[in-house]
Amino acid sequence: MKNIAILGFGVVGCGVAEVIDMNSKAIAARLGEEVRVKKILDIREFPDSPFAALVTTKKEEVFEDPEISIVVETIGGARIAYEYTKMALSAGKTVVTSNKELVSTHGVELLSIAREHNCKYIFEASVGGGIPIIRPLKHCLAANKIERIVGIVNGTTNYILTQMAESGADFATALSEAQSKGYAEANPSADIDGIDAQRKISILSTIALDGAYVDPSSLFTLGISDITTVDMEYAREMNASIKLLAVFENKEDGAFAYVAPHLVSKSHPLACANGVFNAIMVTGNALGDAMFYGQGAGKLATASAVVGDVMEAVEMPTKDAQASKWFESEEPVLLPIEKHSVSVLLRLPESVSDDTVSEAFPEISCQPCVYEAEGEKAVILGKNGDMNEAQLAIGLESIPEILGMIRIFGE
Ligand code: HSE
Repeated sequence: MKNIAILGFGVVGCGVAEVIDMNSKAIAARLGEEVRVKKILDIREFPDSPFAALVTTKKEEVFEDPEISIVVETIGGARIAYEYTKMALSAGKTVVTSNKELVSTHGVELLSIAREHNCKYIFEASVGGGIPIIRPLKHCLAANKIERIVGIVNGTTNYILTQMAESGADFATALSEAQSKGYAEANPSADIDGIDAQRKISILSTIALDGAYVDPSSLFTLGISDITTVDMEYAREMNASIKLLAVFENKEDGAFAYVAPHLVSKSHPLACANGVFNAIMVTGNALGDAMFYGQGAGKLATASAVVGDVMEAVEMPTKDAQASKWFESEEPVLLPIEKHSVSVLLRLPESVSDDTVSEAFPEISCQPCVYEAEGEKAVILGKNGDMNEAQLAIGLESIPEILGMIRIFGE
């Protein structure tokens, strides 16, 4: 019998207890021993929960119990969760989590504490919810150089963008729908400003770079709050979808990682991920492309990944992949985003002349868009790979009238 504790009995914590209960026989058969939730630590009481008897407010009942060797952290955030994770790891207890904020900000330290104390810190559920992505990167694709990861990794923003495209809703209406369905947080900034996606791509990038830590706060990040119904019109006419993409690219001369909304051609498999679904395309130099698709959030889907990690911890309590050794590199890990090549759809008032555009973007390919909304002109810049982010930023400074701009995902 393996005893575990759950820290934080919110949606995911509750899902973990439910999945262990629902699939207890299969889990025991696969592991050769039972997994039992012995304690649930929370400051709240849950009198109506079937797990009420397990809930405690006393942390020593978890951290000082030698029978509890695995702790599931589903508190979220990087304050109490950070303290409790350090406490558990320092006591030699493996910690399993879905907490992307904590992993992406303190992963280097927490993985090192785990190694020191001969236990593990594992976090499959921190990216892509229930979709397997971290273990495939660390194990199944370990023979590859990971050349690119492109992901729709935030379900809330994908739901909002899908609603805008399908029902013609504006951003504010689609956001409040997402909130009423419980997808977006009451304070939805982490989702709509791209911070959640930034944390997730920092985790995937670090793994792809064999543990060289990519600090999320260093990443170029744009959210979706400037996307309008007119942008959606352009997307439709261009046979594309607008998706918030989290991207990692590792080329000959170095790596880039960033988050931004993009026009994605409807012929690309990523454009098929709609609503709260996530999709992550990974390109390995031996494998080619592989796409991981499924529920990127939600109670049981996320709990599925957490419990999978618990089972890994039961089977292999100490042995972890080399890619789990994260370190702060002395050299910059990523190239400056200014060097990254970029292609955009630029929307301008009709009154802006072609000369103004070509003077702002000298020697950069500029072609008319297949569609122009009423009273506007629209051009596609940098389609030939002849513009980088620095040139784009400089050009934009001399055209203050722009109505909108969206990056175009190049396949
Ligand atoms: N807020 C996140 C999302 C939850 O919408 O994807 C899952 O990480």
